[in-house]
Parts: sequence; C-alpha cells; structure tokens
Amino acid sequence: MKSIQSNIKKAKLYLDKNDCIAVPTETVYGLAGNAYSSLSVKKIFRLKKRPMDNPLIVHYLDIKRLHQDCHLNDNFIKLYNKFCPGPITFILKLKKSSKISRFVTNNQKSLAVRFPKHSLLRKLLKKLDYPLAAPSANISTRLSPVKKSDVVEEFGSKVKFILNGGRCRIGLESTIINIIKKPEILRFGGLDILKIEKVLNKKALIKINSKNKISPGQFPLHYSPGIPIRINAKKPIENEAFVLIKKKRNNSKNYYYLSKTRDFDQAAKNLYSTLRKIKKKGYKKIAVEKIPNTGLGKTINDRLNRAAKY
Ligand code: TXA
Ligand code: MG
Repeated sequence: MKSIQSNIKKAKLYLDKNDCIAVPTETVYGLAGNAYSSLSVKKIFRLKKRPMDNPLIVHYLDIKRLHQDCHLNDNFIKLYNKFCPGPITFILKLKKSSKISRFVTNNQKSLAVRFPKHSLLRKLLKKLDYPLAAPSANISTRLSPVKKSDVVEEFGSKVKFILNGGRCRIGLESTIINIIKKPEILRFGGLDILKIEKVLNKKALIKINSKNKISPGQFPLHYSPGIPIRINAKKPIENEAFVLIKKKRNNSKNYYYLSKTRDFDQAAKNLYSTLRKIKKKGYKKIAVEKIPNTGLGKTINDRLNRAAKY
C-alpha cells in the first residue's frame, strides 16, 4: 500500500516536470505526459518516433474534468454512462477555450478522449490537475506493450519511470468511435461494437480502412512483431511458429495457444505477448490459424491483418 502511494507520488513528480512516463491501462501501457504542456507532448512524439500528424488520445479521470476541453452530446453521454471507465475512445469537438496543446491534435478541431479503468492510473489522474496525453508505449508501428517488461524492451532507459500495474487485463487497444455527428467506428478494439450499437440503438458506420488521414492508426503496417505473419494458415510450414486460438492435444514445440478453450477475451489478452514471445525465441516467421470473426475475434483479426502486411 505504502509503495503504491510512493510510486504515484514519483509518477506525479515526473509528470509535473513535463517528463513522460509509462502508465498501465486496462488495454495496453501508455506513454503519458501532461496534455496541456507542449513541451511534454513533443517529448512523447520524439520518444515514440511518431509522425507529428498522428494525433494522441487524452486520458481523463471522469466527465467532470472533460467539460473544460470538449463539447459533449447525447450519444456520448449514453455511451459514457454505460461503458466508462473502460476500453472506448471518443472523438469529440474541441472547445476553443481548451488548454490542450495543439501538438496533441495536430491542430485539428477534434480530440480523442478516453477514461481508463486501471485503478492505479485512476489514482494518479485524481492527483493531477491536467489530463494525460498517452499513445501506446511502443515505438511507432510496433506491438503495444501489455506489461512493464514490454515497455523496457521498447524504450530501454529512455523512459525514466514506469508505473507498474501488472499485466493489462484486456491486452488490445481501445475501440475508437467518432461521435461528433453520426457514430463512426474508426478502430476495432477492446469493446465489442455490437455492445456499442445496442446502447446507441442503431448501427455505427465502420470506417476502419478509410483513406482519410485523420486516424493514422488505421494504416497498414501497424502492430507488427517485426517478422512476417501468415494468416488463415492450416498448418505451419518450414520453421514457422504456429499460433492457434485453442489448445490442441498434439503438442509441438512451435505451437502457441492464445486460449485454453477458444475464449476470445483470453485470446485477445494473450495476442501481443504471444507474438513478442515468438519473436524473442528467434523464429523468423509466424503462421496463425483462422480466427473466427466474433466478439473480440474481430479486433484480433484486424490487428493480424495489419501485422501481416509487414
Ligand atoms: O487503448 C488505447 O487506446 C491506448 C491506451 C494507452 O489508452 N492508446 C492508444 O493510443 O492506442 P495510440 O496513440 O496508439 O492510438 C490512438 C489512435 C491513433 O490511431 C490516432 O490516429 C487516433 O487514435 N486518433 C487520435 N486522435 C484522433 C482524432 N482527433 N481523430 C481521429 N483519430 C484520432
Ligand atoms: Mg498505438
């Protein structure tokens, strides 16, 4: 308990000095800085090697603190009440009076906001008088980190402090919805869009492969473990590692299972860490069996499709 308090204090000290640190969320770890400070936000882009025209998500404790930065609407409130804090990111209209650094949004008039559920991060947000801009804590285009050692693997000592919150419960990034006008899904993620549509009582447009550059996370060549991935494979060839959704009886050394029982939530949680593990073992290629497109299976397939473009 005492060490939790002192780690949060330490995290706050770094952030107050406009440094960036890694923080746990229920989806993936984030590389966080003061969203009102251009100095801090520019450091995030630099560390991550992220193009400045790819805007960041800003993390808030709750809706009370969001009023000063964004215009809210009924659809947003409905989804907020049902799912927040949780794995959903909203694109909202930025207020003219907002103090959000213009580097966060690349001068756009919209802002991506999210209310993370991880208790440690919420404890930290409570102590801050600014929200946190935080992209996933990985070098651009690589796999997102789901535990402290993944962040170390990405950045070494370049990240001065990592708030250790254990293994991320969901393991895939948040679902992104543009809610300014007609709801549009911009990224599949940790919240199943069927649940979102149920609350909105209508279908959302799916814009995950749209050509517009607003949400560059949709570009190919994201989420890559750095070695080729072959999807919808029936069996491995040559020296491939083989990733399966469910444990099989014939146990080969190159077989990796995402879940014991074909559980999609568990498979999502294990996806990035399994791909990292395979790369570390020295495999040069990965084959993945066909993953059914239901529930978080949709998000898993989205990430694998992009990674397969490497
Ligand atoms: O689960 C998550 O969302 C994690 C954790 C750390 O919160 N964050 C995350 O951030 O995945 P990042 O930066 O890796 O992905 C954010 C995505 C990018 O694809 C970016 O282009 C899009 O959100 N985005 C940010 N601001 C936007 C905006 N104003 N309009 C449309 N898309 C935006
Ligand atoms: Mg990312």
